[in-house]
Amino acid sequence: MGREISAPALFQLGYYWEAKIFLTSVRLDIYTALAKGPKSAAEIAQAVNADTTSLARLLDALVAIGLLTRQEMQYANTPTVAEFLVKTSPFYLGELMLLQDEEWEHWGRLEKIVQTGRPNITGNIFMNRPEIGELVLKVLHRMGQRVAPILSEKIDLSPYQTLLDVGGGAGTFSLAFCKRYPNLSATLFDLPQTLLTTKKHLDEEKMADRIQLVGGDFNKDLFPGIYDVVFLSDILHYQTSEENAALIQKLYRATKPGGKIIVKDMLINPEVSNPGWNAIFSIHLLVYTEKGRCFPENEVRGWMEQAGFHSIVEVERNTVLTAVKSKGGLG
Ligand SMILES: C[S@@+](CC[C@H](N)C(=O)[O-])C[C@H]1O[C@@H](n2cnc3c(N)ncnc32)[C@H](O)[C@@H]1O
Repeated sequence: MGREISAPALFQLGYYWEAKIFLTSVRLDIYTALAKGPKSAAEIAQAVNADTTSLARLLDALVAIGLLTRQEMQYANTPTVAEFLVKTSPFYLGELMLLQDEEWEHWGRLEKIVQTGRPNITGNIFMNRPEIGELVLKVLHRMGQRVAPILSEKIDLSPYQTLLDVGGGAGTFSLAFCKRYPNLSATLFDLPQTLLTTKKHLDEEKMADRIQLVGGDFNKDLFPGIYDVVFLSDILHYQTSEENAALIQKLYRATKPGGKIIVKDMLINPEVSNPGWNAIFSIHLLVYTEKGRCFPENEVRGWMEQAGFHSIVEVERNTVLTAVKSKGGLG
């Protein structure tokens, strides 16, 4: 059972108007225009290049929602939007909203997708639309900077020296693990087009000497060595079961005997009574990927066991699993 839905909440669910008003305000970057203080509709329209009359209506709607305030026809940011939606703020989260807005047209086809079972999208956005891929990685990096150091504390990698970060993206987790464990060096394997973004991050962090970048396709190419630890974060939900089972087998071969695998993803709670929020995320994958979905945790455990890993531990509920390759484990 999910949350309880009252009659007013039911109406609220159907009214997507507020969502689109909000996303449009982020796309127009209204909040950055107000960063230095209150402005009139005409001043904001000039700053964001919009029609004053229509924009004034949008601004009033934003006041009604509670995102802006208005006094004597001067509009101002509320503290929350000033913190999270002004581009110069260190906590800016606008990219996440821009990504949601990017999917808008696709969500309009949800009924068709559910009726036909046919995807809306072909291919992989990281391969076909690197500019969107870069936006996704920016958002993941911003969010990951909070969770990656916590994960590196929770999973003790002090006995290990080498880590393979498969589809490592912006390098968020390689960076956190290498910072936490000074004896560790990482190999980050990702698509060549993504590595351009990764390189920028590593150069900024001055960690390029600890993290080697290798370009390739993890479904087609060989990994460049064998490692003490292999790490896979937010990859499974873009792929089919068959691809994931094969990838985990390949990772088994890339793990040294006695080594560890860490799998992090958005897993579905196996308790059928409440599959959890990831069931909703799985609809985003239905709409905006060719074959992605959130998998039940027991299916992921199955791929790990079939590959030969054992001692599976759930480190974070429905998110992180670790397992071990036996000391005598063969390739
Ligand atoms: C959702 S991001 C996850 C990034 C990172 N692991 C994290 O958790 O922050 C998926 C990553 O997988 C990479 N990727 C997708 N398909 C790939 C493929 N076939 N081979 C190699 N990398 C791939 C993308 O370029 C992207 O960096």
